[in-house]
Amino acid sequence: MQFVVNNEEVTTNAAESTPLLYVLRNELGLRAVKYGCGTGHCGACTVLVDGRPENSCEFLVSLVEGCRVTTLEGLSNVELHPVQQAFIEEQAAQCGYCTTGLIMRLVSLLDTTPRPLIAEVHSALDRHLCRCGSHSRVLKVVDRLFSAELGGVTTSS
Ligand code: FES
Ligand code: FES
Repeated sequence: MQFVVNNEEVTTNAAESTPLLYVLRNELGLRAVKYGCGTGHCGACTVLVDGRPENSCEFLVSLVEGCRVTTLEGLSNVELHPVQQAFIEEQAAQCGYCTTGLIMRLVSLLDTTPRPLIAEVHSALDRHLCRCGSHSRVLKVVDRLFSAELGGVTTSS
């Protein structure tokens, strides 16, 4: 199977039923993609497939044939992506295990819905678990990224 990861063409001989996560981490060495629950419930493994956020732990590698996959490693070259920068400025990570998945989710939201409703923000974040309880800081990230678009209403109010 051939597909593009972070703007580079890759080929894998993995079985078609292999989760994309295993190919990304174990074959391609992209360790920003995290294995959390492995059952599609925590969001730690989120990557973009043709711009859409997907749980790579349950997304079969056969489904990405010909697609473009983006992981955290592919977000920036010299300068950080604005979502990464916002996480740093708000110190929104503790252990960091959930962070890359959250970043990829918010990158997708920023790309597809630059003026989201608060309900859309909550719906996006609902798919991500954080065992460290960093949620309030993540909401500050959201405020930093979207507050103007949210009409001045903050997610934390
Ligand atoms: S590891 Fe994929 S959703 Fe939890
Ligand atoms: S910062 Fe530790 S799981 Fe979210």
